[in-house]
Amino acid sequence: MSDALTCQRDAFGLPEDLHYLNCAYMGPLPTVSEEAGIEGIRRKRVPVSIHPPDFFETSDELRRLFADLVGEADPTRVAIGPGVSYGIAVAARNLPVGRGQNVVLTHEQFPGNVHAWTRAAREAGGEVRFATPPAGPGRGQAWNENLLEQIDNATAVVAVPHVHWTDGTRFDLVDIGRRCREVGAALVVDGTQSVGALPFDVSEVRPDALVVAAYKWLLGPYSVGLSWFGERFDEGVPLEETWIGREASEDFQHLVNYRDGYQPGALRYDVAERSNFALLPMAVASLRLVSQWRPERIQAYTRELVAGVLTEAAGLGFAVEDEAWRAGHLFGLRMPPGLDLAALKESLERRKVVASLRGSALRLSPNVYNDSSDVEALLDGLREAVTAS
Ligand SMILES: Cc1ncc(COP(=O)(O)O)c(C=O)c1O
Repeated sequence: MSDALTCQRDAFGLPEDLHYLNCAYMGPLPTVSEEAGIEGIRRKRVPVSIHPPDFFETSDELRRLFADLVGEADPTRVAIGPGVSYGIAVAARNLPVGRGQNVVLTHEQFPGNVHAWTRAAREAGGEVRFATPPAGPGRGQAWNENLLEQIDNATAVVAVPHVHWTDGTRFDLVDIGRRCREVGAALVVDGTQSVGALPFDVSEVRPDALVVAAYKWLLGPYSVGLSWFGERFDEGVPLEETWIGREASEDFQHLVNYRDGYQPGALRYDVAERSNFALLPMAVASLRLVSQWRPERIQAYTRELVAGVLTEAAGLGFAVEDEAWRAGHLFGLRMPPGLDLAALKESLERRKVVASLRGSALRLSPNVYNDSSDVEALLDGLREAVTAS
């Protein structure tokens, strides 16, 4: 029997006539996660239903699920935060950048990464370098080559995504990781636009930190971010000194026996009140689904679903990245010259096709709830806009 994934729309509450191709903006919440959240809110009505072990057990389960998803055997390497900027701030706090050193980022990277590293570099008397893509064919490969060229003996940190949030350009993290180790640079990965829908294995990439927002491809709630931290962070300094991050915090009666030691691994980096009784059960329910569907099957499903779109869009004059350098779940169609953007927007909106315009590209980001009817509606909209221009 084939192990291939079939459409999982039944697991979601999306309206039937909505062609939602915008998971890179926000993933829809699966129905089981919605129910877990409502149940979590209800428990707060009568607080005796929330017991001391509840402060730990759901968090531990979430760490286990995320660790499994990224090939990590030790769940204590996972910290729970409120979003990506928080995880990147932990990384920037603990990875030293010295005078004359540099931090390498990509062109148009998501702002939270850019601001954190720009400040770290500025305060240290170092510089930030941006790897830039050329225009035209071969863009993805050339962008990857440029990124490797930016890394040198003065590089302290390379902070990059697996796929670019604007157009899905894929970065070869195994190669980048190897180059980082050659020069002694730390590698920080923002996996928000990939983890969940594209396989990621910490033992292959060997990053120092991996930070992921739960609300996109992990199909979780807003305001949960999961970070994996490697050995460089083992004795690091958290952003906050939380009671729960300290040794023996399970013993509520003796919390004022202040302890110097922290909970194991990366738990010291958890945000205050990380045990959110509504959000974490939602995140757990979503991650269970993603783990069951598996990123490699989700990637194969989306790749196959959009194969026809890419061929036809190229025929209509849209430029598409080479298959090797883009993701199946997230990619951009660059406009043909002269295409009327307003007409394209209108034509898609009328068909209830939801995607994002990012710069000069239409960003499409399908997932397991999409099927051929979504792709057909999109193609109809593209055809009409090209004919009208
Ligand atoms: C690549 C990437 N990183 C991070 C974020 C969100 O960052 P934060 O969780 O700090 O709001 C987004 C949201 O679009 C994103 O695309």
